Amino acid sequence: MSDKARLEINGKFYEFPLVKGTENEIGIDIKTLRSATGGVITLDPGYKNTGSCESGITFLDGEKGILRYRGYDIEELADKADFLEVAYLLIFGELPDAETLEKFHSDIKNESLVDEELKKIIDAFPKSAHPMGVLASLTSALTAFNPSSVNVDSEEAMYNAIVRILAKIPVLVAWTMRKRQGLPFVYGDNSLGYVENILKMMFQKPNEEYVQNPIVLDALDKLLILHADHEQNCSTSTVRITGSSHAGLFVSLSAGISALWGPLHGGANQAVIEMLENIKEDDGDTKKYMAKAKDKNDPFRLMGFGHRVYKNFDPRAKIIKKSADEVLADLGVEDPVLEIAKGLEKEALEDPYFVDRKLYPNVDFYSGIIYRALGIPTEMFTVMFSLGRLPGWIAQWREMRLRKEPIGRPRQIYIGKTHRPFIPIEKR
Ligand code: CMC
Repeated sequence: MSDKARLEINGKFYEFPLVKGTENEIGIDIKTLRSATGGVITLDPGYKNTGSCESGITFLDGEKGILRYRGYDIEELADKADFLEVAYLLIFGELPDAETLEKFHSDIKNESLVDEELKKIIDAFPKSAHPMGVLASLTSALTAFNPSSVNVDSEEAMYNAIVRILAKIPVLVAWTMRKRQGLPFVYGDNSLGYVENILKMMFQKPNEEYVQNPIVLDALDKLLILHADHEQNCSTSTVRITGSSHAGLFVSLSAGISALWGPLHGGANQAVIEMLENIKEDDGDTKKYMAKAKDKNDPFRLMGFGHRVYKNFDPRAKIIKKSADEVLADLGVEDPVLEIAKGLEKEALEDPYFVDRKLYPNVDFYSGIIYRALGIPTEMFTVMFSLGRLPGWIAQWREMRLRKEPIGRPRQIYIGKTHRPFIPIEKR
């Protein structure tokens, strides 16, 4: 195979090198396209065919339904690792040994207090504020109480910033939920594991001891692992592009949280449960919603279905579906919405509209059902996704800075008015 791509524009030929990844993916390196051709660019709205970077963090093959973090299969990580180990793996590239993991956790615990003044900012939000908006704001607000920039040339400074953010975001997540529920802000307990502590901070009542439920702990740990990274999706690209201007880590993450909020991205987990609830209220009429999803004049989409990259089963959805069955059975929860979800999935997988377009359930289709069984309120679902995605965003931000990537700045093809003279107001 040739290692070059040949392009003809107006009878002139140009050659561009091909780049090959370790999993044999091929890209055309068009860095010199504009200068070589005197101004020609590529146009690819939504970046369906455009690679924005070379990355060594996550590999996914959408046709085969493969997802790997740093070379390890997601199925194996979800089964055998814990969330903090996976966070370390994603950010630093290798699984930590026991001593490194213990130090990592202990460094996180040492940073787990947030400035008391932050409570004033949380207090200023109305109780009705959506937790994703609150979390994005609080993450940005952390810059007021912490060094706003990180010396990326120092591994130590980078490590300290990473540990700080992994310590403080869970506190903000828990307090965001407690604010909405009118509960006092509490800290967890440094003798607990990372995810155990998150559960305690979220659910501890002021007048009773919080007793950990191993089923809940295990399920949340697994969900966070499944959400931990997904290469160059909308929010991750937002984090990378924000950070590419050398804006600080906290604000880059805050930008990522805002991007995740949308219903086409992480916000889908909330939208799925709301859709399933609506179907339940509508006498379980799945056929009606299938018809709406297929009707091009109706903006309704089957939430939790379809994916930009997966054109086969989303491997995370497979794990979550199995887990939903187990968790609900173990907790003794009967959720009629699970049956509606299964019925809807079956119908969609047999329907030519969905089959032809290769639309399968994605990670968000069943995750809300588990979150709900764990006692997490619906409007917190996307916040839980953010918590899981945190290591991925950090890993991608770190990689982008260490590789000294240039500022992200796409081009455009201008389709507006051409030059015209100004018209004074009295003549318009
Ligand atoms: N329901 C009905 N039709 C759909 C759906 C859906 N959920 N998803 C895609 N289609 C149709 C779409 O109308 C289009 O049809 P046609 O070719 O006739 O115009 C075709 O399938 C291709 O869709 P697309 O919108 O061009 O695909 P995309 O890659 O731009 O969008 C997506 C991917 C995930 C935004 C989209 O599938 C969607 O809106 N799904 C519902 C929202 C959702 O579940 N999002 C979570 C994604 S996974 C987790 C995450 O990213 O955070």
